Parts: sequence; C-alpha cells; structure tokens
Amino acid sequence: MISDEELIDLATNARRWAHAPYSNFSVGAALLSSDGRVFTGCNVENSTYGLSMCAERVAIFKAISEGAQEISRVAVVTDHDHIAPPCGCCRQMIWEFSTSDTEVVLANLSGDTRKYQITELLPEAFDERYLEGVG
Ligand code: THU
Repeated sequence: MISDEELIDLATNARRWAHAPYSNFSVGAALLSSDGRVFTGCNVENSTYGLSMCAERVAIFKAISEGAQEISRVAVVTDHDHIAPPCGCCRQMIWEFSTSDTEVVLANLSGDTRKYQITELLPEAFDERYLEGVG
C-alpha cells in the first residue's frame, strides 16, 4: 500500500505542471483509488477565470474516466505556510466517490502535513440518498 509520503511526493510532482498564471497559486493532487491505482492532477486556469479547474477535480476526472470507482485517499499539495484545504466543490466531488474512511492528506512544500477524513471536511454532505428521500 502506498504511503502518505509517497502520495504527497506524487502530488508535489504533479503540482509542477499547474497552469496558474492568474492566481499564482499552484496546486498538485494525487488520488489513490480503491483498486490501487494512482491518478494525479494540477490546477488548470483559464484567462476567462471561471473555466479554471482545481487539481483535485482534474485527478478525480482522470480516475473516474479510466474506470476507477472509489477514492481511498487523496493528497493535495500547495506552497504556503498555512496548509490549504480543498475548496467546497472539490470536497463534494471527493464525497461522491468516497468510502466511509476516505482520507484527505494535505501538505505544503515545507513538509508540514495534516490528515482528515472526508466526513470531517464535509459534514452533512448532500448525496444520492437525498434524491430518493432517504436521509
Ligand atoms: N485550487 C485548487 O486547485 N484546489 C482547491 O481545492 C482550491 C483552489 C486552485 C484553483 C485556482 O486555480 C487556484 O487554486 C486559486 O484558487
């Protein structure tokens, strides 16, 4: 099983490909799927701003479009003293493919890390159960 440190290294490497000329805030993500594969992503910005896409969702789209079904763990790397957590959209997207123990590992380039369960980052999440009227 891949370690948190290895997943962080892969996210750090993916971060190098970030296209973030507007925010100058580069993000890298590395996602471990339940079938043992790793998918990486970086943020990809656009001059129209609103089309920009977060690193986590790039990794999720790559994973799901290649047949992965569940996220076991996802590492997200930024480069600030205050380790940045995933935005709300990304939390919701991680939730969609999460299990009861999906972990989100956060890190910066200084080696600081934090680890959360997705249930901590997104309490009272909306999901498919509510579409069927079952809470
Ligand atoms: N960003 C991510 O890639 N992931 C997040 O969870 C938060 C924000 C990106 C989007 C944008 O390119 C830049 O960081 C600044 O918001």
